[in-house]
Amino acid sequence: MYKAIRKILFLLPPEEAHHLSLFLLQLFCSTSLTRKLLRKFFEPAKVSPIVLAGIHFRNRVGLAAGFDKNALHLRELSCLGFGHIEIGTVTPQPQRGNEKPRLFRLPADHALINRMGFNNDGVVTIAKRLKQWREEVQPYVDLEKPLIIGGNIGRNKSTSNEEAWRDYQYCFERLHPWVDYFVVNVSSPNTPGLRALQDRSFLEKILTGLQRKNQETNNPKPVFLKIAPDLAWSQVDEVIELVLAIGLNGLVVSNTTIQRDTLQTTPNTVSRMGAGGLSGAPLKERNTTLLQYIHQKTNGKIPLIASGGIFNATDAAEKFNVGASLVQVWTGFVYEGPAIAKNISAASPP
Ligand SMILES: Cc1cc2nc3c(=O)[nH]c(=O)nc-3n(C[C@H](O)[C@H](O)[C@H](O)COP(=O)(O)O)c2cc1C
Repeated sequence: MYKAIRKILFLLPPEEAHHLSLFLLQLFCSTSLTRKLLRKFFEPAKVSPIVLAGIHFRNRVGLAAGFDKNALHLRELSCLGFGHIEIGTVTPQPQRGNEKPRLFRLPADHALINRMGFNNDGVVTIAKRLKQWREEVQPYVDLEKPLIIGGNIGRNKSTSNEEAWRDYQYCFERLHPWVDYFVVNVSSPNTPGLRALQDRSFLEKILTGLQRKNQETNNPKPVFLKIAPDLAWSQVDEVIELVLAIGLNGLVVSNTTIQRDTLQTTPNTVSRMGAGGLSGAPLKERNTTLLQYIHQKTNGKIPLIASGGIFNATDAAEKFNVGASLVQVWTGFVYEGPAIAKNISAASPP
């Protein structure tokens, strides 16, 4: 059924197809009866709940950052069987992002290339929206096992790396009452210079600042760091050292890659798409290798959330087998459709 819908959606430009799908989902979910139906239909038959960083996740499958950047569709996405949804990346000021087109499909590779550039409504608006969701919607839709909301935070394009810590702190403070955990995003390839924040000096300043703020609250929230799949092993080692030294709650592995090797799509077509992060199937192997490296190097001391090339239960099992506790999907949702969480939940962690 989804294959037929996908054929039609793939006739549209990718970004428009994304918004249209969410609009149609929202329309379908406008009554409590249809929401109930959807919930029943997409409810995973078999789940492996987990407590990670003190949070109870009702299952192991989440929606990765960037899918619902502005927290506009939590009610309807929560009907599709996800255990958690990561909103954002959220920046202090609203941003339009890069010029369109900025999202491209590579069907032969089951992949996407994007250079969205942190388009989002800004943290003040998004925090207001989350407050409303928490107070007016969630209590009525999520009675027993609540949907977990992650807040993925970043810096504005116009903020320098030297001042970036202020942006992270600003977003952290405003989202703190409304999200269950944070992800510090220093790994998007689409904000110039952002990935340099993975250098120890910048990272240490950002993360220690956030942890200080966190400890000042009476309800500290888990903080994860999202890393790029393109880091050299020496950089990965530095990140590991820092995460352990600071006592961060874990890593999201990983963001999109700037690599373009081993693609089926012709080099000409790929180069016409231009710069951006590649996601989906071509990312899978590198992602698994990175997860495995970190898990083995730390004897499993760092909790890992896997994000990269997960389409089905077999892909998810591969991530669990190398040490991931949770998995997240983005590109897989586009290619596999709304039953993806249900299908993946059949994967049993070891
Ligand atoms: C269109 C698009 C937008 C994205 N936006 C963000 C973002 O704002 N913040 C972020 O941390 N990751 C973002 N990502 C990366 C995804 O969260 C995910 O880590 C990555 O795509 C790898 O997973 P996948 O292979 O399942 O897509 C985006 C990915 C796509 C395709």
